[in-house]
Amino acid sequence: MVSPKDFVGRDVITVGDFRREELLFLLDAAARFEDLVGPLLAGRVVATLFYEPSTRTRLSFESAVGRLGGRAIGFADAGVSSQAKGETLADTVRVVEGYSDLILLRHSAEGAARLAAEFARVPVVNCGDGAHQHPTQTLVDLYTVRRELGRLDGLHFVFVGDLRYGRTVHSLVTTLAHFQARVTLVSPPFLRLPAEQRAALETLKVPVRETHELAEAVRDADVLYVTRIQRERFADPVEFERVKDSYRVDNELLSRARPEVAILHPLPRVNEIAPEVDAHPHAAYFRQAHYGVAVRKALLALLLDRATEVLR
Ligand code: NCD
Repeated sequence: MVSPKDFVGRDVITVGDFRREELLFLLDAAARFEDLVGPLLAGRVVATLFYEPSTRTRLSFESAVGRLGGRAIGFADAGVSSQAKGETLADTVRVVEGYSDLILLRHSAEGAARLAAEFARVPVVNCGDGAHQHPTQTLVDLYTVRRELGRLDGLHFVFVGDLRYGRTVHSLVTTLAHFQARVTLVSPPFLRLPAEQRAALETLKVPVRETHELAEAVRDADVLYVTRIQRERFADPVEFERVKDSYRVDNELLSRARPEVAILHPLPRVNEIAPEVDAHPHAAYFRQAHYGVAVRKALLALLLDRATEVLR
């Protein structure tokens, strides 16, 4: 049995921090929080330390805090923080823990959230650390799939795009082991899923197929998870130019897929999904972005020990 108390004060660094039962508990909690507005977090302060660009993650967290009556403080640009004066992340975190009840951190360095959590006495939530992990996005992705398709178990997920640098892919793909998923990975060779994740999937006995052929892979997809090529993570701009237009999802491609395929994208989209697809009844990416508020409301309330009454 999972109880709301199990989440109190926890750091969220990778999705591996959660067992299947805990993931399902979080998704059920998010459903209860979807329409909830109220003073649950009154007097609480959440700090957003965003050293990398963000629209959805930061604003949906800030919206979640605001709708639960709390306050969000922080910065969305490291250039305006004391990092610009040479302050280390460890020092910033030790200062900000005195100003807030929880820290939301996005950083370009893999392992930044883990480091911050070692120094902070308040919970730290990883909002993306380099190409590594983005656990709250995974919760949003799982919530979206379950909401769109009515179930999570036994689905065929097709991932397409930048599987090498896409942290949302890295977080989600191994989590699918909890849900008896089958996975097809579609990317140019240069953007293949890293060996570490491929090995993890093998250990977890997730059936995986890799291909370059999107048209063939979509045929029996339940979920098509599209990602942007992560330009900012390329060491060599020439490589980026070579792969930047590798795949494009359009209506012609989707005519080969099941009509009920759920189309997800963590966003931002560049050109990998044609605008015409937005009218597809199962183009879920804008709904997915909106579900971020419900999921983050539930997570914040749980970590800050304010969820028990709502979930009773
Ligand atoms: C993603 C990210 O920052 O990793 N965006 C998000 O949080 N929704 C995906 C991306 O930047 O491509």
